[in-house]
Amino acid sequence: MSAAREPIGVIGTGYVGLVTAAGFAELGSEVWCVDIDVAKIERLRAGEVPIYEPGLQELLARNSGRLHFSTDLSGALEHARLLFVAVGTPPTYSGDADLSAVHAVVDVIPASDRHALVMKSTVPCGTGASIRRAFSERDKGGLGYVSCPEFLKEGSAVRDFLHPDRVVVGDDGGWAGEATVELYRPLLNGAHGGSGAGELVRTDVASAEMVKLASNAFLATKISFINEIANVCEETGADVVEVARGMGLDERIGPKFLRAGIGFGGSCFPKDVDALKQLAGNSGYHFQLLTAVIEVNELQKRRVIGKLHKHLGGLVGKRVALLGLAFKPNTDDMREASSLVLAARLNADGAAVTAYDPVAEEQARRLMGGLELADSALQAVADADAVVLVTEWPEFIELDWHEVARAMRGTIVIDGRNALDVEAIQAAGLTYEGVGRGPQARSFPSKEPT
Ligand SMILES: NC(=O)c1ccc[n+]([C@@H]2O[C@H](COP(=O)([O-])OP(=O)(O)OC[C@H]3O[C@@H](n4cnc5c(N)ncnc54)[C@H](O)[C@@H]3O)[C@@H](O)[C@H]2O)c1
Repeated sequence: MSAAREPIGVIGTGYVGLVTAAGFAELGSEVWCVDIDVAKIERLRAGEVPIYEPGLQELLARNSGRLHFSTDLSGALEHARLLFVAVGTPPTYSGDADLSAVHAVVDVIPASDRHALVMKSTVPCGTGASIRRAFSERDKGGLGYVSCPEFLKEGSAVRDFLHPDRVVVGDDGGWAGEATVELYRPLLNGAHGGSGAGELVRTDVASAEMVKLASNAFLATKISFINEIANVCEETGADVVEVARGMGLDERIGPKFLRAGIGFGGSCFPKDVDALKQLAGNSGYHFQLLTAVIEVNELQKRRVIGKLHKHLGGLVGKRVALLGLAFKPNTDDMREASSLVLAARLNADGAAVTAYDPVAEEQARRLMGGLELADSALQAVADADAVVLVTEWPEFIELDWHEVARAMRGTIVIDGRNALDVEAIQAAGLTYEGVGRGPQARSFPSKEPT
């Protein structure tokens, strides 16, 4: 790629910021990355990648000459016009998004006619308008503002950056919107002058902000919907895997996000659904559907406990192995992971819990202090009365169930992701129970798109 592309700044070097920085460096931009986390910046300068994200290490290494890391904004301000903001927007106790990190950035940006903020952080609809108001009130009205929400999925973030379905750019006039589109041009399809696959959605700031919130809320709704169907299947003898397959072939429905399981987690869905519900409430509208989506998700995590009680007749003194801790495979992110709720509930009910995750160990030690962590799946299942698949990492799907059966004390396998080979488990003399799968559950190659 040519190196004559617009240099940029990236503020916040977490999952989104690092992938954005590495991605634009790959496309030829010099990228000035800024973070307030001194230790993180030191690791990045030393060539270490503080998160697990497939392909990211290679991308950062390949473009290290174009990537600059600092805790100081001055380099970014000197070299770049567009400052991508990728700081965290976690939930507050009220469910609203915590915008304090975004406001901290807004506060430190000096007055300028040459710079613009490009908001990648997920923010409530109306945030762009209030930031621009704040700029005007503080004599910083010359600063540009663009909403460019991020849609990457942890676990395939690098691929998602380089091959986006769509790029949404919202602004209300000025140079910065077009400059942002220009940066993304190589990733856009021919209709937008690019050679990639992405569709361009060029719109106003408020609509761009809402596209992001509505997209995540819709996907979360799809998951809670199929989970409720699964719960009805458990009462009626139908197999939700068959049902989802039959539903997904309807092109109006589509097969993705129809895998029933123990609920969604992660750094985005729970907080973004909550934030949209609160945003609606704050604007005077009660978003009933999202209230149900959230409640169904909470209950879904706890249904596993009920199944364990049913099979084990009480959990006091029982040993339960959790396979997987990350909120989904190919990431070490445990924010809002179902494993956190499960482990806490199991402990509260008197069970001993041993867990294993191929990459989330560091996060688990930070978030789940007393949890017993094993070095392998087989070590985790040793002497267990029951095994629960929490995260469908390929190595769990490929387990030798005869070996598992020999290591366990009991026989119960709860497949929290409907991803395991039922017949192989039963052939090993173990008792299989999935989510929404009747007694006739058969093995399926776990190939449905998620
Ligand atoms: N993680 C995802 O899959 C994903 C996908 C799409 C959108 N988003 C959104 O993108 C945003 C970032 O998410 P993330 O997962 O990358 O968060 P993260 O917590 O991994 O990273 C945020 C980074 O911002 C830094 N930071 C905080 N305040 C700062 C400041 N004032 N100046 C400079 N740096 C600061 C933190 O130290 C941290 O390194 C969030 O709004 C999130 O909702 C995340």
